[in-house]
Amino acid sequence: MQSTPVLHLKDLSVAFRGVRVVKGVTLTVPPGEAVGIIGETGSGKSTVARSILGLLPEETAEIGFSEYQVEGKPISRSAIPSLRGGKIAMIFQDPLSYLNPIMRIDKQIAESVQLHGKDENVDRRVSELLDLVRLPVSRKSSYPHELSGGMRQRVLIAIAIACRPRLLIADEPTTALDVTTQAKVLDLLRDIRAAFGTSLLLISHDLGVISALCEKIYVMRHGEFLESGSIDTVFGNPQSTYTSTLLEADRLLLDENGRFKTFEGDQTW
Ligand SMILES: Nc1ncnc2c1ncn2[C@@H]1O[C@H](COP(=O)(O)OP(=O)(O)OP(=O)(O)O)[C@@H](O)[C@H]1O
Ligand SMILES: [Mg+2]
Repeated sequence: MQSTPVLHLKDLSVAFRGVRVVKGVTLTVPPGEAVGIIGETGSGKSTVARSILGLLPEETAEIGFSEYQVEGKPISRSAIPSLRGGKIAMIFQDPLSYLNPIMRIDKQIAESVQLHGKDENVDRRVSELLDLVRLPVSRKSSYPHELSGGMRQRVLIAIAIACRPRLLIADEPTTALDVTTQAKVLDLLRDIRAAFGTSLLLISHDLGVISALCEKIYVMRHGEFLESGSIDTVFGNPQSTYTSTLLEADRLLLDENGRFKTFEGDQTW
């Protein structure tokens, strides 16, 4: 028997002022699984992620879809905002823009706990969350600017998981971090998933990041999903020239003369 996906979004299209940037994509995230979206800059990855939580500017974005279900339950357009910080939470590339610069981080985590966990002992839950994201207790009274980029991302993760989401969307969560810190944040996401069965939707242009964490992948280009499937299938036997090119670029293959290989023209992709 197939388990009910945590997220199923069918035929999503998004246009900004009449320009279509997402062109009818269908996305399914099975329970407890980590699903990646990979694609070049401007391909529409963040727009897909933001659509899921209704985070696009209402004045300029036109959004359409034929089905939207969370854990099998149909979600109407007007119900989308209520998913935020409930069943679905999101973390972003640049934690500093999402943290309040003049509020201590433990207070910011506490706010998120209070918002969602009605009867919780807030202090205890904040300590538990700090522990979970491996932030030293000594830093809990810090302000965001006093923390390193990796620590700020941990704070954002603590805020996101405070509500025990079924799906955590991470949009380029490690792009701004150095390689060592990046690996630690990825480890943390992996651990959260293992401990709570949280599904992950991980967005990245980095094949290494996606393949370190995900079982399933969507390859996105020009607002469309070119192909999808298990990482092994897609990377092992890519169906589009674009995916092959991504793989080659990642391996930085050199030709017989030791020069970088040139890629085929745009129209063949
Ligand atoms: N708020 C907006 N208003 C107008 N156009 C937008 C808006 N957000 C995104 N776009 C446009 O939509 C397209 C897709 O952008 P999006 O940010 O989703 O790409 P992305 O794949 O996340 O890129 P990156 O890897 O650089 O983050 C781009 O052409 C972008 O300029
Ligand atoms: Mg983006």
